[in-house]
Amino acid sequence: MVDIKKELSTILNKEVSIDTYTLIKEIKEKDKGDYTFPCFVLAKELHKAPNHIADDLKDKINSDLIEKIESVNGYLNFYINKEFLMKEVFNEYESKKDEYGNEEQTGKTVCIDYSAPNIAKPFHVGHLRSTVIGHALYNIYKYLGYNTIGINHLGDYGTQFGKLIEGYKLWSNEYDIENNPIDELVKIYVRINALAEENPEVLERCRNNFKLLEEGDEYCVNLWKKFSELSLKEFDKIYDLLGIKFDSIKGESFYIDKMDEVVKILEKNNKITISEGAKIVDLEEEGIKTPCIIIKSDGSSIYATRDLAAILYRSRTYDYDKSLYVTSYEQDLQFKQTFAVAKYLDLDPKYVDGLEHVSFGMYRLPEGKFSTRKGNFIKLEDILNDAIEKAKAKVSDKNPDLEDIDDVAKKVGVGAVVFGDLYNSRIKDEVFDIDEMLEFQGETCPYIQYMYVRIKSILRKLDKEVLINDVKYDKLHDDLSYELVKQIYNFNSVLKDVTEKNEPYILSRYLIKLAQTYSDYYNSYKILSDDIDERNSRVYLINIVANVLKTGCHLLGIEMPEKM
Ligand code: ARG
Repeated sequence: MVDIKKELSTILNKEVSIDTYTLIKEIKEKDKGDYTFPCFVLAKELHKAPNHIADDLKDKINSDLIEKIESVNGYLNFYINKEFLMKEVFNEYESKKDEYGNEEQTGKTVCIDYSAPNIAKPFHVGHLRSTVIGHALYNIYKYLGYNTIGINHLGDYGTQFGKLIEGYKLWSNEYDIENNPIDELVKIYVRINALAEENPEVLERCRNNFKLLEEGDEYCVNLWKKFSELSLKEFDKIYDLLGIKFDSIKGESFYIDKMDEVVKILEKNNKITISEGAKIVDLEEEGIKTPCIIIKSDGSSIYATRDLAAILYRSRTYDYDKSLYVTSYEQDLQFKQTFAVAKYLDLDPKYVDGLEHVSFGMYRLPEGKFSTRKGNFIKLEDILNDAIEKAKAKVSDKNPDLEDIDDVAKKVGVGAVVFGDLYNSRIKDEVFDIDEMLEFQGETCPYIQYMYVRIKSILRKLDKEVLINDVKYDKLHDDLSYELVKQIYNFNSVLKDVTEKNEPYILSRYLIKLAQTYSDYYNSYKILSDDIDERNSRVYLINIVANVLKTGCHLLGIEMPEKM
């Protein structure tokens, strides 16, 4: 499809010497034109006032692409030829259909490390955010032609497993671990911690278990494997609800035998200092005050050590261009340190430059139902199921005869949670308010889904499919049709913007706007007009709107119901 900015810049560059491409901006206000170019950037070079430059350029420029040019206060405002743009968009849609807005293979690889809950611990709200944000980014990169690798870096390693093994040995018969593994293991963990605190002998046994685990002791390893498997089974319930699959699931333990190399390289490069028995890397030089511990005084590794080994592994295995880590901002320092130490690992600089911490703010749950469980943790599955239940009540209220109500409720309920998570810049702290997320009006997922469903119900009324050749462009000369076309035209650049900033909310907001514009359109015009040409043209247009809404939602990790 034509890149309008590029076309405009080619036209402008016949007259001026600077590169105009990045200076041309889309005009967001209504009735002021479509694109603008600021002439003051030329004032110095041409020794002329910007408004005179704009006047001159206006007279010189002539192109089929442009319907009208205005010179306003030193800005050159372009009105694009509406019919030209409509034809471009419709033809592009016709040739791509479900794949509208995608890109060919770029040959670039991006690793996305997301979700990463911890074994034998609850999957908490932070993990949900990581999962939702990571999954959206994953889908969008993939759609734009990146070779995309979704990685679940499970927290399956650490001294706590020595304790858990001890607790299991003592009390496993008292707990229903098979049926409710995470809750029960957490209880055991809390109990053994308390015991170990008052009884040094128990603590010693815990430490010894961890040592045995590291040495590959069969009993300990098998138990730890069992904890892993049971936990993953629990996590899978959430992944199934969200429709998520990973390309690689590798726990931190995978890197145990790969950490020696990290230490060796750092030692060879004289980056290791010993401080109170621990091996650390001083990062003062990198502008980071806190040094990064690599090996603790008792000889054990830390979280960062495993991440450094993972960087070596991923660079070699995937040859990535970008490697993203989606976690909360609580780990900001953590990743700053890790990425700084990565500079000392003799990697090709491209692998270090490609590292990026995609951090996000915290979610607070409103008081009440979710926050009272003992230990102050909430079962994520409960949150999602609660959303589905509520969605079911709302949907059946609106449409009591709906078939497949459970399927629709799942799409609406899960969609509401996912969309709510992705509606603001990720760094913002949020209050998780499911009732608000489930509103049918306002900036919510059900609103978008509802608009989609309404389009679908109009399309179902037709006795035959409308083809592109049935479209009469002169029947779409109203402002709202053109506004819809412009938004559809922007879909691909919105997706690119998401990947440039790693901010899925850019897409969420775009979809809300598209749904709102459609709603205006629907309220202003009779889609199934008695004039057959008008009717066909409008139908073809709203069919594209429906498809972009559906594709956009799908990329965010949200499925569309066909009725609701
Ligand atoms: N398991 C960690 C947590 O729950 C997140 C891991 C993120 N990924 C990584 N490569 N460090 O906080």
